[in-house]
Amino acid sequence: MDKAESPRPLSDAAPAFMAETIAARYSYGFTWLGRPVIQYPQDIVAIQELIWTVRPDLIIETGIAHGGSLILSASLLALLDLCDAGTAGTTIDPRHSQRKVIGIDVEIRPRNRAAIESHPLAPRIEMIEGSSIDAAVIAAVHERATTASTVMVFLDSNHTHDHVLAELAAYAPLVTPGSYCVVFDTIVEHMPKSMFPDRPWGPGNNPKTAVHEFLSSHPEFTIDSTIPDKLLITVAPDGYLKRTAMGRDDE
Ligand SMILES: C[S@@+](CC[C@H](N)C(=O)[O-])C[C@H]1O[C@@H](n2cnc3c(N)ncnc32)[C@H](O)[C@@H]1O
Repeated sequence: MDKAESPRPLSDAAPAFMAETIAARYSYGFTWLGRPVIQYPQDIVAIQELIWTVRPDLIIETGIAHGGSLILSASLLALLDLCDAGTAGTTIDPRHSQRKVIGIDVEIRPRNRAAIESHPLAPRIEMIEGSSIDAAVIAAVHERATTASTVMVFLDSNHTHDHVLAELAAYAPLVTPGSYCVVFDTIVEHMPKSMFPDRPWGPGNNPKTAVHEFLSSHPEFTIDSTIPDKLLITVAPDGYLKRTAMGRDDE
């Protein structure tokens, strides 16, 4: 490849951009259809590509915060239903659709709950308040997933190794072959410990370390590196996990 065409300067520039923007809380500056979404725009576009390609009828998300990622998922599921109905350009009543997103958060603040519940996309959203690794919460989500045919999972709650590993054990089995489990904030592994002074996670104890431990015993998942490789700017290096086969427990 001609040096002038090489993407190398871009990939070399990305780590510094990530470090500066994480320190500046860049990901807190955006909204999706009116709700704050704590994601990088690049990851939002990647999520859109995945949802359009995989066409899930159920998305499971841990970590609701202000609800922006729930609204993002709900909006893309609504568009899938609109396109499937062959009525693009006309209004579809969301209560008549099938595709849904379930969000789980240990604390859904009243103001956030009210804003999500009054959003036009609320009929596509179910919320569960509780820890994502609580047995009753996991059981409720599994029960809900029994009627879904294509399931996608986004993990974005507590970012410690043990918590994310427990979330992967709980929810990755629900991901259908060909679909994805996206583990956010694997980028923590690449940042200095001093960047997270008030957090229990940091280098060596974060979603990326959990992903690698999980993958060591789950060959049915592989890292789809094509996504971070093209994004360059992403909080999820090694975090886009594609399920390529059934797991041992499903066969
Ligand atoms: C980074 S925010 C989620 C951002 C959201 N996904 C978005 O893109 O806008 C993390 C959320 O995880 C929640 N959380 C922390 N520990 C949790 C746990 N054990 N179970 C479920 N949610 C948890 C926090 O309350 C917080 O709202």
